[in-house]
Amino acid sequence: FTVDWDAAAAEKSGFDSFMDKEIHDQPHAVADTLLGRTDLDGRLTLDEIRIDESVLRSIDKIIVIACGTAAYAGHVAKYAVEHWCRIPVEVELAHEFRYRDPIVNEKTLVVAISQSGETMDTLMAVRHAREQGAKVLSIVNTQGSTIPRESDAVLYTHAGPEIAVASTKAFLSQITAAYLLGLYLAQLRGNKFPDEIAALLNELRGLPAKVQTVIERGEYVRATARSMKDATSVLFLGRHVGFPVALEGALKLKELAYIHAEGFAAGELKHGPIALIDEGQPVFVVVPSPRSRDGLHSKVVSNIQEIRARGARTLVIAEDGDDEVRKYADEIFWIPAAPTLLQPLLAVVPLQIFAMALATAKGLDVDQPRNLAKSVTVE
Ligand code: AGP
Repeated sequence: FTVDWDAAAAEKSGFDSFMDKEIHDQPHAVADTLLGRTDLDGRLTLDEIRIDESVLRSIDKIIVIACGTAAYAGHVAKYAVEHWCRIPVEVELAHEFRYRDPIVNEKTLVVAISQSGETMDTLMAVRHAREQGAKVLSIVNTQGSTIPRESDAVLYTHAGPEIAVASTKAFLSQITAAYLLGLYLAQLRGNKFPDEIAALLNELRGLPAKVQTVIERGEYVRATARSMKDATSVLFLGRHVGFPVALEGALKLKELAYIHAEGFAAGELKHGPIALIDEGQPVFVVVPSPRSRDGLHSKVVSNIQEIRARGARTLVIAEDGDDEVRKYADEIFWIPAAPTLLQPLLAVVPLQIFAMALATAKGLDVDQPRNLAKSVTVE
């Protein structure tokens, strides 16, 4: 997949970079990935999945294999798919997978997530899994690429061509497609939560408008990023599905602004990372919905309190109306209310905009960061 930069340049349609254009494409990427995959009474119709229904009913383990941002999309999906399908979901970095002699057999469904469909690490892991008898379903954005050709089935994301090396719209569409797959498996295997699944499908349909709302609030994020262009280290905290969002936010900042950034599970703070908190240390915190009944919101709010008490500069991603966070947040980037499992598709957007704006403030090329290629076709 090579980029005709001149032809593509015409495609920037007024944005300063492909990355900015692709961040703005995200509502369409989610909507187009959903399009035509549910019927009128809300049942999923993923006819393109060419794996026999009886085989899908018999699987007893799912292993997601991917790299980088695609792996973080798989990590988000793990929480949802395990909850809906009651099947263990392992998320494996593709380049680690085949060297650890994994337990794979004909009852394993391997889900390979890849924007380009050409990542050699992921392709080699797909080949290894198939040799072990697993069924392989790939979630890919580039039609006709190698990974889908070597898979038993493919569920394409419809994000459109992603030109910028740093992945944005593909990430949201990968989560969307992985959720559709999880809901489809749950539907096939006898919904355990028919009402919850119907409600979530409804919420998914309303998500593009909420992503658009977050994008429209981007100016405050950009201004904050410009004020932090001399930062040398930024930490990211999240819990539950917010944890892979923290990992993705850190990756964006590393690959775009060349700043050391690290994502942690918020619960891990006391087990070591809190030693990193020094006066003025910037820390992003992805806060769960105050409506979540699992008690995670108050735990994350106390994490913010702990790091603030030690001098951290707290940059909080929180749901509209969450008054709890106000007293401990130096900056708050508000996102619309959404069910816990859908929050990652909103919470990641300010982190994408932040990384892009800070890199731009440093005069860096956000579309083609140093040392990176759009598709890593070597192992
Ligand atoms: C994403 O911002 C990175 N550029 C990189 O981690 C990428 O997600 C990874 O290389 C996987 O690429 P793929 O989705 O094309 O397989």
